[in-house]
Amino acid sequence: MINLAILISGRGSNMEAILKSVKKNKIPIKPAVVISNKSDAKGINIAQKLGVRTEVIESHGIMGANWDYDKKIVTILEKYDVTPKNGLVCLAGFMRILSPEFIRHFKGRIMNIHPAILPSFPGLHSQRQAIEYGVKYSGCTVHFVDEGVDTGPVILQAAVKVNASDTEESLSARILGQEHKIYPKAVKLFAQGRIKISGRRTVIS
Ligand code: GRF
Repeated sequence: MINLAILISGRGSNMEAILKSVKKNKIPIKPAVVISNKSDAKGINIAQKLGVRTEVIESHGIMGANWDYDKKIVTILEKYDVTPKNGLVCLAGFMRILSPEFIRHFKGRIMNIHPAILPSFPGLHSQRQAIEYGVKYSGCTVHFVDEGVDTGPVILQAAVKVNASDTEESLSARILGQEHKIYPKAVKLFAQGRIKISGRRTVIS
């Protein structure tokens, strides 16, 4: 059985979608812990209501990738038996860049959700970038995390039409609806051992 950790910074709606789907669809993965880098993250209460243990590792004032900070995450993950052998770490709106050391430690076991069809519009404010660029379709991507920003092997993507009347808010809401579908799906595929990484690609069996 895989032990799952979810890292959040705020609202936690993707975390909620994953945790509910794990329960409902009997995904063979154990939600071990939700970790937030902010003590006021809304997602903390949601996780607790769903019966998942939570931890806060405050990162106030610690800017950029920082292995000393990330070592604290590793310590908490070990406490809940989330290891490079049996763990999956899902970033769900976690607003910190992880250090290369952390990423190497959990190589091939860290996933992220990004609100655009990568490699388009990486980084912040992807939905605004999509509207400003004038694309007709955007969407979301679940990918493994490597040492770049939003550059790791793609696992699943979903496309969303961009309407002429869309605002950043309306497009974000429609993309979020798709995020809540594909992130739990990717977690399920991982739990079932169906995702292999082959260079830049993932092969799903
Ligand atoms: C989502 O749009 C996700 O794609 C991005 O951050 C947002 C997190 O939202 N990485 P939530 O905290 O899961 O509600």
